[in-house]
Amino acid sequence: MGRRLARDLARAAIARGEPLAWFEELYARVESSGPSVVPWADLEANPNLVAWLDREHVEGTGKSALVVGCGLGDDAEELRRRGFRVTAFDVSASAIATAARRFPESAVEYVAADLFQPPANWTRKYDLIHEAYTLQVLPRGLRSKALSQLASFVSPDGILLVIARARDEADDPGEMPWPLTCTELEMATRSGLERVSFEDYLDDERPRVRRFRAAYKRP
Ligand SMILES: C[S@@+](CC[C@H](N)C(=O)[O-])C[C@H]1O[C@@H](n2cnc3c(N)ncnc32)[C@H](O)[C@@H]1O
Repeated sequence: MGRRLARDLARAAIARGEPLAWFEELYARVESSGPSVVPWADLEANPNLVAWLDREHVEGTGKSALVVGCGLGDDAEELRRRGFRVTAFDVSASAIATAARRFPESAVEYVAADLFQPPANWTRKYDLIHEAYTLQVLPRGLRSKALSQLASFVSPDGILLVIARARDEADDPGEMPWPLTCTELEMATRSGLERVSFEDYLDDERPRVRRFRAAYKRP
């Protein structure tokens, strides 16, 4: 049910030239219908993030993290649990309100903000930027700008982690979420970042989903 509703809202918002409007329209329904109305809200940390943090032995002690399109907050709480000072933002004020309600004792700073109009003081501020699944719900025309915005938040020596659905250039993108191509993802390197790792893999979901997981560093 959630995915069909999300696709209908996305289609209508994009058709009227408001490609970001449908996120709030969707999350506003959580209060009356519950979180299952949001198709990506698993209410647990993203296993593709957790596996990367474990494998890379990432520890947050003394470091700052920015969680992009944080939704209901589970990834932000995971990074906080691992010792990061976390700011988490989403364009949907209802998502942020729900995240704050779910984690009332949290030390995460939850902020309603638009990736395309971020606070000026976020520039080069964060040691880790975590982006999962936001690029893939943005129309293709917004992705280049979105990636340069993401890159702008990375501090010297900081890391941008991107996790997204993946496709080959020739594959049909199908319906939302629209998988990224390698070329789209590599736009991160046009903003002064260097690629430090790149994975193209099938995840553990049933059915398995092809993903990119890539990390970029500001030298
Ligand atoms: C597919 S969801 C993924 C949510 C979360 N990252 C996760 O993995 O469960 C994409 C999220 O990005 C948010 N979003 C979309 N466009 C945004 C923008 N311009 N600025 C901030 N957040 C945005 C949406 O509201 C939504 O919560």
